[in-house]
Amino acid sequence: MPDTKVTLDQIVSLSKRRGFIFQSSEIYGGLGACWDYGPLGVELKQNIKNCWWDFMVRSREDVVGIDGSILMHPEVWVASGHVAGFHDPLVDCRESKNRYRFDQMLAYRHPSRHDLPLFAFMEDNPSPAEAKIKKMAKGAGLEEFEVIPLPNIAEEDQARVIGPDATQPDTLTKPRQFNLMFKTHVGAVEETASVVYLRPETAQAIFVNFKNVQQTTRMKVPFGIAQIGKAFRNEIVTKAFIFRSREFEQMEMQFFIPPSEDEKWYEYWREVRMNYYVNQIGIPRDTLQWAPHPPDKLAHYAKAAADITFLYPMGWQEIEGIHNRGDFDLTQHSKHSGKDMSYRDPETNQTFTPKVIETSAGVDRSVLMALCSAYHEIEEVGEDHKRETRTVLKFHPNIAPVSVSVFPLSKKDELVDPSKRLENELRGDGLRTSFDVTGSIGKRYRRQDEIGTPFCITYDFDSIKDQSVTIRHRDTMEQERVAIDRVSEILRRKIREWSQA
Ligand code: GAP
Repeated sequence: MPDTKVTLDQIVSLSKRRGFIFQSSEIYGGLGACWDYGPLGVELKQNIKNCWWDFMVRSREDVVGIDGSILMHPEVWVASGHVAGFHDPLVDCRESKNRYRFDQMLAYRHPSRHDLPLFAFMEDNPSPAEAKIKKMAKGAGLEEFEVIPLPNIAEEDQARVIGPDATQPDTLTKPRQFNLMFKTHVGAVEETASVVYLRPETAQAIFVNFKNVQQTTRMKVPFGIAQIGKAFRNEIVTKAFIFRSREFEQMEMQFFIPPSEDEKWYEYWREVRMNYYVNQIGIPRDTLQWAPHPPDKLAHYAKAAADITFLYPMGWQEIEGIHNRGDFDLTQHSKHSGKDMSYRDPETNQTFTPKVIETSAGVDRSVLMALCSAYHEIEEVGEDHKRETRTVLKFHPNIAPVSVSVFPLSKKDELVDPSKRLENELRGDGLRTSFDVTGSIGKRYRRQDEIGTPFCITYDFDSIKDQSVTIRHRDTMEQERVAIDRVSEILRRKIREWSQA
């Protein structure tokens, strides 16, 4: 198993220190599970979205894009099944006042002593329950315990359950279903206005526009419609930084296909999407895994589904879902709107409701994955001969907030002016640049390493005479001297080749 030495605390601290991500409304004490992206974070996030859009839409003939509105007709969410079924089971603890996802709770119980308490815990945090068991078992010969999902515990045993953060039994409420959609109102008078929802997924704007897009573009099935946009879920359990937020962004693509071709296209998109993370975003393959959904865990719309999971500091977690949605959504919208959502194949003259393969990725989870994957700490002897730890973010150049930083060796105009000109030229050629004149060159390298800039360029006194500069490579720390008029071409070639490597 690959190691993930980075901790979430290191990522949170770097994100704040260097201006990637801040807590939302921080000066007011923050708002749970909402985040603001700072200057570097927004660049990283934008690059991730651009990469996806270029790969999924611009480089393909068979996918087009849309940008749907966040507020939609409320009937959309009745048709999609979200009003009736987009629930999480929730329990409250009367003692600790904490709230838990019932389906993620487990309990330790003694295999034979059914008079003893059962110790509930969240699946990712068994230690408080273990501490309680140890205390009870001490000297009493009660070391044996088995783990059982809390929903599987018999009704008559529920009163013996001690909650994850409680000391006494019988403090957990009965589970109740909690709809994850945020509600708001359209119109000036709240009481009389109709309820609308903040969309919990971007996909539905694609389904309801299937006919509009197909007819205006004259795309032929099979083809896809892609969208990047905000989605909102009133999540019960929110932790792990930006991993599970209440406001987040999705990158979704619905690929409409003839009914008999779903298995073929499901396999096709699984392969395309996994390769994308490795080649375009630079995520090592051994830190990515497939997690197929067992039939009893499938979402209400899915015939088959598998998640691409990444090895985050908190374990393997979903980054993207590939779903075979069948014709569920188009059929539902046809029924609820009364509008025909079928398609007539111009070659065979057959009319059918297309099936759909969906690829659904999270932007914020991609940002977190990129940060965790890129994070490296390197021990070395610093300029003052002391051992020090250097942080390097080894971002793929496709997503690095800055692709190249230009340094004049000194603050003298004879160096600053031409190096500024070089920076402007590189920016004009589409590279993301920065300029730094402060501190020693070593310090400037370290500042750029910490934000993941793959290339640094130093303009020194020799540059005036030989019209050459030094390119320093972040990952190898190698330096090469190149002619100024070739810098742009060389860097752009290296970035291209990075993707093909
Ligand atoms: N249209 C299908 C759909 O929405 P999903 O598995 O519920 O499927 C897709 O969500 C992706 O959206 C997930 O793989 C994840 O990357 C992202 N996502 C879902 N809920 C999220 C949340 N609360 N915070 C951040 N990202 C989330």
